[in-house]
Amino acid sequence: MTKILVVDDDPNVQRLLRVTLKQEGFEVVVAGDGTEGLRLWEADAPDLILLDVTLPKVDGYAVATRIREVEGQETHVPIIMLTAEKEVEQKVRGLRAGADDYLVKPFHQAELLARMKSLLARFGAREGTGGGRPPLGKLLAFYGAKGGVGTTTLAINTAISLHQEQHRRVALVDGVLQFGDHRVFLDLGNDRKSIADVVNAPAIDADLLKSVVVRHDSGVDLLLAPPNPEESDLVHESQMSQSLAQLRTMYDYVVVDVEKRLGDLTLSVLDHADMIFVVMTADLSCLKNVRLVLEALGRIGYEQSKVKLLLNRSNAFTGISIQAAEGALKRPFEYKIANEYRVAISAQNSGSPFAFTKADSPLGREVAAMAATIDKIHAPAAPAKSVAR
Ligand SMILES: Nc1ncnc2c1ncn2[C@@H]1O[C@H](COP(=O)(O)OP(=O)(O)O)[C@@H](O)[C@H]1O
Ligand SMILES: [Mg+2]
Repeated sequence: MTKILVVDDDPNVQRLLRVTLKQEGFEVVVAGDGTEGLRLWEADAPDLILLDVTLPKVDGYAVATRIREVEGQETHVPIIMLTAEKEVEQKVRGLRAGADDYLVKPFHQAELLARMKSLLARFGAREGTGGGRPPLGKLLAFYGAKGGVGTTTLAINTAISLHQEQHRRVALVDGVLQFGDHRVFLDLGNDRKSIADVVNAPAIDADLLKSVVVRHDSGVDLLLAPPNPEESDLVHESQMSQSLAQLRTMYDYVVVDVEKRLGDLTLSVLDHADMIFVVMTADLSCLKNVRLVLEALGRIGYEQSKVKLLLNRSNAFTGISIQAAEGALKRPFEYKIANEYRVAISAQNSGSPFAFTKADSPLGREVAAMAATIDKIHAPAAPAKSVAR
């Protein structure tokens, strides 16, 4: 059960929070001053702290500062500061002291819960296991070594196969914010909601995401890219990260078609990834880019084992054999998908992915086999639930 530490000297606030949070299924521990708060933080290892600013003995700022000093890099307990005033200065001080969020008293229950859930989702992932917390969904990132190698094609069809054949709950995110192709590949108009509709909300929680995702006929839920390039600037990397963290609590798999540019936004996706599929074809510019990408991901500190090489159009004639390509990269391809241009292009141009409408085609079967392998690797952590829809 998720444990919340409330540090507040006002008995009314203590009582109210105890009741509200218990109703929501949280375990609650309460401290009446800063010293007691620090003691319970150490003794009880709460999943989140609600911390009043004005406290007897040690005040809220000092408590937050102390916790951040002691906990180091490995863990991060989310802290929401509760203050009596709307002063910007208080807010800034709280955030500087290490708070993650901030609420002015009196606050609405719904807002408190939304902010708590958003923070729990965001930090739950890094904290490891917090008692009975259910396992998070796996994030599969598809990253193209260059444009046109089939990244979008494979991300979409793998997502659909994981749902249709493996019966998993799947969210598919178009992370190519400026020129995302999912509306074209999936025959959806510009009127459908996108991640731009997520960023204006006060808190990114499950209800919000449920209202923004678009259910595809295949049963996969889509978080689309904005319909026009300007709107992509609205999406900050922290919002991308929060959205993904939240989606991971709601689905067995979150499949992301990732932007090529290796900037903060891309890294906010790759940070979450359980597997990064580097999609490529056997040509010189891909080989050069894959080498650069592998080096960059290594420098950033990602484990090599989470990076998988995916050779698309593997039997197309390029003048470079699979063996030669593997030799150049000094590692084998983990996955190979054959060249079948007709099926791929007609699925794309008709807006109906082959994994959905032509699952029996050779290309459909190859992608299904890859999805099955991926699912087998992750199955122990995420047992199939009956998809009752
Ligand atoms: N396995 C494949 N065999 C043949 N053509 C493919 C294959 N995968 C993708 N394609 C085609 O390659 C082109 C680029 O695909 P796309 O998924 O848009 O690539 P990217 O997202 O990497 O730019 C499309 O015309 C698509 O139909
Ligand atoms: Mg693409």
